[in-house]
Amino acid sequence: MANDALSSTSADPADAAGTSPASSTAEPVRVGVLTSGGDAQGMNAAVRAVVRTALRMGAQPYAVMEGWSGAVAGGDGIRKLEWDSVGSILHRGGTIIGTARSAEFRERAGQLAACRNLLEHDIDRLVVIGGDGSLTGTNEFRKNWPSLVAELVERGDITEQTAAAHPVLMVTGLVGSIDNDLVGADMTIGADSALHRILEAIDDISSTAASHQRTFIVEVMGRHCGYLALMAAVAGGCDYVLVPELPPAEGWEEDMCRKLAKGREAGRRESMVIVAEGATDRAGNPITADDVKRVLAERLGEEARVTILGHVQRGGKPSAYDRWMSTLLGCTAAREVVLATAESEPVIIAERQNRIKRLP
Ligand code: F6P
Repeated sequence: MANDALSSTSADPADAAGTSPASSTAEPVRVGVLTSGGDAQGMNAAVRAVVRTALRMGAQPYAVMEGWSGAVAGGDGIRKLEWDSVGSILHRGGTIIGTARSAEFRERAGQLAACRNLLEHDIDRLVVIGGDGSLTGTNEFRKNWPSLVAELVERGDITEQTAAAHPVLMVTGLVGSIDNDLVGADMTIGADSALHRILEAIDDISSTAASHQRTFIVEVMGRHCGYLALMAAVAGGCDYVLVPELPPAEGWEEDMCRKLAKGREAGRRESMVIVAEGATDRAGNPITADDVKRVLAERLGEEARVTILGHVQRGGKPSAYDRWMSTLLGCTAAREVVLATAESEPVIIAERQNRIKRLP
């Protein structure tokens, strides 16, 4: 894996972070880091890398706890972090700084509170690790920032001086989502671990399915993206897969039953159908695991079993890939945001064609 942004041979990517103007000023640059939306394995690795790279560059990192809720709430929701604050978390699933889907943050009142609370700590640089919704919400907040600052001055919540010192919000995003749904990125944080989790389940289900000569229908997460379902079906040697990106043509039921029956005739003891949670037909009607079960009962007279994997897919330890990749992404994101200026465009740091890339 090459990294356009890093050139050191040290095992600690923070060694390659470079020096920041922050280290030469009296007050260190302050950087907030938050995880938002559904948690994903590897978020901790990213947070750790952001914190330690920022410190190495002479900046002061802060955690915004529980996603944007911590910024809206203020107080203990925004906490100073040190090197040891992120020790022993590389291998842990979830996110130690918490995550949430904050409804308040979508409202102007919530954004005003978040802006005020961040400015209380002189934070106007953020690394946001989250999915599609979180990053879109963050971008709205970034665009609103100048008007939020102006309103806070009007209300007497902050001084003119504070407003002048923080005219823009500098943001760098990392895509943390098991769904692997960012156009332009090869993999999002957590997708690889979730795929491992799904494959473990498929392998386990296969043995009981084979014993009973049964068909299992496994529903996997991914929201509107079929990546997990498709890759799990290929890697798990499954018989049929339904994904949102390729709604099946009319008559898919017949096609599926014919293929499953052929497998049985060839001596296959188990059959497995993978259904992405966002699968639909061409008219946009959802195709659920229960729909597939009904079709199999009606057309093949089979009593199939349904397994909905659910949040098991998001739980547990991150894979090796989600640890090292998230470390490189976090390191690059911290570097990006510490060195940002008011003129810098907001970017997402992501893996693309085996390189760490800045995406607008
Ligand atoms: O976006 C990640 C994801 O796990 C989706 O795959 C799934 O549809 C959704 O989040 C589940 O959300 P929640 O944890 O709120 O039930």
